[in-house]
Amino acid sequence: MKVLVIHGPNLNLLGKREPQVYGSLSLREIDRRIRETAKSLQVEVEARQTNEEARIIEWIQEAADAFQAIVINPAGFTHTSVAIRDAIAAAGLPTVEVHLSNIHAREPFRQHSFIAPVAHGQISGFGAESYILGLRAAVALVSRLPEGS
Ligand code: DQA
Repeated sequence: MKVLVIHGPNLNLLGKREPQVYGSLSLREIDRRIRETAKSLQVEVEARQTNEEARIIEWIQEAADAFQAIVINPAGFTHTSVAIRDAIAAAGLPTVEVHLSNIHAREPFRQHSFIAPVAHGQISGFGAESYILGLRAAVALVSRLPEGS
């Protein structure tokens, strides 16, 4: 099983960016923990970050050929991107939406996610642990799906 982890815009700044909201771990350290978890779950993982919406859409479109699930933190695009939502719906891969902060406890504009209705579920508010929980959720989902679906 191979899981694609997508980090959206500004997440390359983690550690330096509003640490009171997003924590003090760098993206590099978060990716290290994701890889460690993947190893313990005996799955493969590939983590990518971009600040570009189009790139995220292309990665999702291509994912069906090489991955069995997606874990995505769409970051700011969560609240704006119908196009990323459409790409997830079209890909048909089990997708887990993750956020470091609890978006439901923040400004009203962050409380709406265009992604949530097409994701299998959402994990929000556990800091870097959200990715670990998201990866575990994705692996559990795929392991429970009947063959060929
Ligand atoms: C975020 C929450 C978003 O509202 C914000 O735009 C981000 C990060 C999170 O992980 O908490 O960039 O997705």
